[in-house]
Amino acid sequence: MAVTGILLVLFLVAHMLGNLKIFTGETAFDHYAHWLREIGTPLLPSTWFLWIQRTALLAAVLAHIGAATVLAVRARAARPVKYAHRKKVNGSYAARTMRWGGVIILLFVIYHILDLTTGHLNPQGDPGNPYGNVVADFAPERWYVTLFYTLAVVALGFHLRHGAFSAFRSLGQQTPAGERRARAAALGFAVVLCAGYLVVPFAVLTGLVA
Ligand code: HEM
Repeated sequence: MAVTGILLVLFLVAHMLGNLKIFTGETAFDHYAHWLREIGTPLLPSTWFLWIQRTALLAAVLAHIGAATVLAVRARAARPVKYAHRKKVNGSYAARTMRWGGVIILLFVIYHILDLTTGHLNPQGDPGNPYGNVVADFAPERWYVTLFYTLAVVALGFHLRHGAFSAFRSLGQQTPAGERRARAAALGFAVVLCAGYLVVPFAVLTGLVA
């Protein structure tokens, strides 16, 4: 769970930073997107590194879901007889929504790839002009796309907050103060990541990026 989670978080941080390049203008953003396909050349042929990264990401997602399933099955096996009165589950809202949060994020990623990578669900869908695709996607009249992205990113935020909290708690001091610090650090991390993602659609929606 943790190793694959860390890999996915590294991707999320890199992707968020890359998206912020949209504020440096169309030429710079499209150049950056082109560079993503050229990483590793001339040692590797063009787009090979991208495909290696895609394979690693897919493997990490599958292993993350696999590990979550094993943990859920193990937890159920530990308590084969259901509680007659199920006590209110302890833990934060984020902790209790990990499973459905994960499903929502997975569905979002499938939609998102068809939207901004393959272009099938994008109003422009030009592989050579990712900047134009993003601007066309989050245009004011398509406010519902921004709304959908916002809901998905907030779901991602809750998921990350709990995941990061578990990681920080394992690594930090096992005391009430250590736990408070882990909670605060996880919340800070999730908020920064959500804001970093959402600033792009909202900049297009409000005309700051056009
Ligand atoms: C909300 C703001 C976001 C924006 C503006 C955005 C933008 C983009 C763009 C422009 C691409 C295509 C890149 C290219 O083909 O050159 C892309 C690809 C992708 N994005 Fe996002 N993204 C956002 C959020 C997310 C989130 C939250 C996730 C994960 C949960 C995500 C996961 C991916 C993946 C997996 C790809 C495919 C990468 C590949 O081609 O292998 N994105 N995104």
